[in-house]
Amino acid sequence: NNDAIIGSKSFTAVAINTASKTGQWIQSKLGDFNSLHTKFSSHDLVTEVDKGAEKMIRKLIHTHFPTHAILGEEGVAPGPKAASAALSQVRDEEYLWIVDPLDGTTNFVHGFPFFSVSIALAYQGEIIVGVVYNPVHDELFVAEKGKGAYLHGKRMQVSAEEKLSDSLIATGFPADREFALVENMKGIQALSPQVRNIRMAGSAALHLAYVAAGRLSGFWEIGLNAWDIAAGALLVQESGGKVTDTAGNPYGLDVRHVLATNGPIHQSFQDSLEQAGATAL
Ligand code: IPD
Ligand code: CA
Ligand code: CA
Ligand code: CA
Repeated sequence: NNDAIIGSKSFTAVAINTASKTGQWIQSKLGDFNSLHTKFSSHDLVTEVDKGAEKMIRKLIHTHFPTHAILGEEGVAPGPKAASAALSQVRDEEYLWIVDPLDGTTNFVHGFPFFSVSIALAYQGEIIVGVVYNPVHDELFVAEKGKGAYLHGKRMQVSAEEKLSDSLIATGFPADREFALVENMKGIQALSPQVRNIRMAGSAALHLAYVAAGRLSGFWEIGLNAWDIAAGALLVQESGGKVTDTAGNPYGLDVRHVLATNGPIHQSFQDSLEQAGATAL
């Protein structure tokens, strides 16, 4: 029974409780915040709400698990170098929470109602819990390693498309765009004639949750960070999908260029990116 899976395990319960409380607080701040700063570039925004949400998450997790390590986006200096340095500092911790307090800050700032809270827990480097919460639609996506992934108690299953031509896929432009703009454009150019259509809705974590829920056939993005992907990767895997880097290597915490699909379209998706020169920076 689903309650046993998503309610009784304390790690998962804390992840769920933390993501929903924080998400509801973020939602209450929509259109009602007054600080806006740029981080790495003019594409990279941060508000008091991102920071407040991260503070809230840290507090809630540490109330229950004071010794656990937390890697959160707003605790790390902007840019890809600082992100990989921060990850290598904590990646050997026994319990590591990987947190994106607000995934979709640009949407939040513009009042485009599509953003999420993403919380994952890794045990000895392997993700065992992944929760993505979308407060706008009040949708809570939950995965536990080996136990499946659920949307409001209903088991999720990736979609069944076998061909790119039947597929709805998604991508995004990362904040450190200078490094990836060309590769992203190449990928879009190569894939757009082959697929049914492409979406760029502005939250990597939700794009991954949508792959898990079968609403998207696949998602790729170049230049993400661990906190954008960790929870969503487990959601996709536990829904029967496949997650690799854009070169086809297995998913791990270091992956920044991610490809997540329903499985059947994975190889042709990856081949297209590869042929277009859209996988490497
Ligand atoms: C961003 C979102 C966006 C993606 C960017 C991310 P943030 O995260 O996931 O969809 O295209 O690459 O940086 O900064 O809003 O948490
Ligand atoms: Ca950000
Ligand atoms: Ca993010
Ligand atoms: Ca964020």
